[in-house]
Amino acid sequence: MALNKAAWLHKAGTPLEVGDAPMPIPGPNEIIVQNSAIAINPLDTHMQDVGVFVQQWPAIFGCDVAGTVYEVGSEVQHFKKGDRVIGHAVNLVTGKPQDGAFALYTAVPADKSAILPDTIPFTQGVVVAFALEAAVCALSVRQPGIAMPGVSTPALGLPYPSLETASSNKVLIVYGGSSSAGSMTTQLATAAGITVISIASEQNFGLCKSCGAAEVFDYHEPSFVEKVIAAASKYKGEFVGIFDAISTPETYANDLVILNELGGVHLACVHPPPENVPENIKAGMIFAVNDVATPVWRDYVTPALQAGKLKCLPPPTVVGKGLENVDEALKKCKAGVSGTKLVVEL
Ligand SMILES: NC(=O)c1ccc[n+]([C@@H]2O[C@H](COP(=O)([O-])OP(=O)(O)OC[C@H]3O[C@@H](n4cnc5c(N)ncnc54)[C@H](OP(=O)(O)O)[C@@H]3O)[C@@H](O)[C@H]2O)c1
Repeated sequence: MALNKAAWLHKAGTPLEVGDAPMPIPGPNEIIVQNSAIAINPLDTHMQDVGVFVQQWPAIFGCDVAGTVYEVGSEVQHFKKGDRVIGHAVNLVTGKPQDGAFALYTAVPADKSAILPDTIPFTQGVVVAFALEAAVCALSVRQPGIAMPGVSTPALGLPYPSLETASSNKVLIVYGGSSSAGSMTTQLATAAGITVISIASEQNFGLCKSCGAAEVFDYHEPSFVEKVIAAASKYKGEFVGIFDAISTPETYANDLVILNELGGVHLACVHPPPENVPENIKAGMIFAVNDVATPVWRDYVTPALQAGKLKCLPPPTVVGKGLENVDEALKKCKAGVSGTKLVVEL
């Protein structure tokens, strides 16, 4: 019988401590992944600092795993022991320690997992999972749901990404195109035929273009808002709105100027939207655990990775090997990254 270990959070605001952990037991529709790589998300730093979303102490959290299937639940049909997979761990919702990524073994819903092609290393594949779910939530929810009390989710109702060449007359602005959520949203939107205009630092223009952005503008330039408006205006298609992957007072102020000029309807945020939104604009905050992503996980991820249509971007920065490095990786994430995702190899 394998032994599990985890990077535990015993109390908010303290470093993680590596220690023994119970071996996860799969629910009927879950797989147990023996993790080879895990990725760090800004959310994890908030969980560590203030214990947000922690339901059970001590806690194991973390959202992204890549590794090998160790065990499958009784109802699981599409995975078997030994498969190489990526998966979105949902401790955020369940609160169960066995559903947290920062461990040697993690329970992951089978419908939030996909086979990772042999050609893609675990340290690359692991950047996809949570960002993919965030991107589908930003793009394809049809009816607004509840992101948190009093805050609804955005409902852009855009098509899923396609393995074929898709075309659409829609135009979307992705603010923060070099972030994990922004680059994955750009990839999925452009794979649905949507034209994406992206906002990022100049050093990350190449990253945004590799994700499919038609044009990229540097937010450090004083006149970038006007340039974004001019660029979006020249496309004949329907301007859908903005996915704001940064969602700060500064980006919200720019969002509202852009939406006012271009007449877009949607403002999809990653944090609670601004309060002063005009009535004609539908603003919402994504909540990146949602069954809307199931068809994308099931039908798109593996063949798209195989075909090179879905890329493991932003590229990983491997902080170290072993669970002892998770705490250091969280510190680096808190300090901020540019055009990369922090990863710990196991
Ligand atoms: N609500 C949810 O369900 C949900 C899900 C996922 C993420 N989130 C939140 O979404 C945010 C992004 O997460 P992430 O993992 O995608 O972040 P990330 O990859 O760590 O973001 C880093 C990127 O942010 C960009 N950036 C920073 N300030 C910017 C600005 N003023 N304008 C444009 N770009 C800017 C940087 O771009 P440059 O280096 O190019 O300047 C950098 O590449 C976080 O706050 C996270 O907590 C929420």
